[in-house]
Amino acid sequence: MHTIGMKSSALLVVSLAVFYVSATPILVHRNIDAGPRAMKSYNSTGLNEIFNTLRTLLYDVIEGNVQNVETIDQILGALLQSVSYIAPPPVSIPQIIDIVAKSSGAKTNSTPPNIIDYAMDLLVEGINPKNIPDSLGALTTSNSMANQNPPLPNVIKDGDPTFSVAESILRAAMYFPEGFNTLNASGIPAIVMIPPTAIPGGQTWAVSYAKPLARDQIANPMWLNIPSNSLQDAQVTAEYVAYAINYVSEYTGGRNLSVIAWSQGTVNTQWALKYFPSTQQVVTDYIGISPDYRGTVLAQVMCPGFPRLPCPPSVLQQIANSTFINVLRRNGGDSELVPTTTVYSATDEVVQPQSGPDASGFLFNANNNLVQELCPLLPAGLIYTHEGVLYNPLGYALTVDALTHAGHADTSRMLANNPGICLLLSTPGLTVTDVLSIEATVVTSVLNIATYFPKQFEEPPTKAYATY
Ligand SMILES: *[C@@H]1O[C@H](CO)[C@@H](O)[C@H](O)[C@H]1NC(C)=O
Ligand SMILES: *[C@@H]1O[C@H](CO)[C@@H](O)[C@H](O)[C@H]1NC(C)=O
Ligand SMILES: *[C@@H]1O[C@H](CO)[C@@H](O)[C@H](O)[C@H]1NC(C)=O
Repeated sequence: MHTIGMKSSALLVVSLAVFYVSATPILVHRNIDAGPRAMKSYNSTGLNEIFNTLRTLLYDVIEGNVQNVETIDQILGALLQSVSYIAPPPVSIPQIIDIVAKSSGAKTNSTPPNIIDYAMDLLVEGINPKNIPDSLGALTTSNSMANQNPPLPNVIKDGDPTFSVAESILRAAMYFPEGFNTLNASGIPAIVMIPPTAIPGGQTWAVSYAKPLARDQIANPMWLNIPSNSLQDAQVTAEYVAYAINYVSEYTGGRNLSVIAWSQGTVNTQWALKYFPSTQQVVTDYIGISPDYRGTVLAQVMCPGFPRLPCPPSVLQQIANSTFINVLRRNGGDSELVPTTTVYSATDEVVQPQSGPDASGFLFNANNNLVQELCPLLPAGLIYTHEGVLYNPLGYALTVDALTHAGHADTSRMLANNPGICLLLSTPGLTVTDVLSIEATVVTSVLNIATYFPKQFEEPPTKAYATY
């Protein structure tokens, strides 16, 4: 297993990255395991060299050959410096959707690129985090994992398993945006937002669901920023979900609440609901966006070089037929545990299968929604990536339908109440910058995956409490 010292000086890292960027000729011939797209050539020789260099840097980080990586910010800095002259940012949502459809392989039905190549393609096309103010830095406020939340009594309930994470750390992962207390005072129920693999909650939710839900006074958003960006053992990440559900209920005066999760956040939430049964008592609605309740046959997309190279624990746990997935699904874990609404896309480049009876996003007894089925051949039912479902207008409308009625969403009722929704490409009110930010999560995730250590070859052992 490769490990990397994480404590060395930032200066060294910056000079290392600059060295990589300037030392192209000796690096382009390295034998790297970048898959079939490694030889792809961009139309400019200079660009081709830069991207080979960056790809090599990321692989060297993953392989443990680079010994001095401290944070993603240093890599990102070098990366953005070297790509400053690439395509200007897209100026419309249709243009972004078109770029990501091509880059993700969704439009061509080709084998999806691994996450490094996908991220590089997006950067070349101008989906460049540099163009997004304040959305990417892991240290910006809304992505903070060190939030000052008051200790509250009664959050840890009898009958739930013992938390392995210290309560102070669980508490610090909850981010309450400005305005939370005001909406709470108006009686708007809270919604707890769970991030996916490799990305903090702020970058995920602030630009997608938080804004319209607060604007429309449907729910009062807060989100989790989970240490290690959910790349650690998914069972540990589930503890943050379980804790937050009971904390937010107490914080809002003992009220019920809802949960929305994207990608790995959906299996973390399902695990929390199943094994921390107290949580089921206070969750009136649970919405899963691009869920992977069956894991994914494309897990290698998130894990460049696997099985030759090791992989973050939670990615191993999301491989289809993993132990984690099999344990989660048994004894009712494959069914709705609280009123559950799911939304997913057949052209998901990370989670497959994602249509038909074996769709990974499907839960028995839940309200399940495949966007292509709801709006065949119309804008809202065309090409949506794994991350694209976050701005799909059907997802938002179904969420509102679920949150404003008892039980899970009702697809026919939602469609009847939203005439013309199939003609929309994105949730009303989201800007081009919001959609760009959502797609730029791909770039963030590749950096966080590359710099996560220790990676491993085997799943973490199943927790002792997961006996059913
Ligand atoms: C939220 O509102 C409830 C009910 O009015 C109140 O008991 C609780 O203290 C409020 N919480 C916050 C954080 O303002
Ligand atoms: C919360 O929801 C449960 C059903 O899940 C219900 O029994 C309970 O009365 C609700 N509590 C509040 C405070 O509304
Ligand atoms: C799933 O894994 C088990 C062993 O863990 C194996 O017996 C089974 O064949 C696998 N199923 C599929 C569909 O890969």
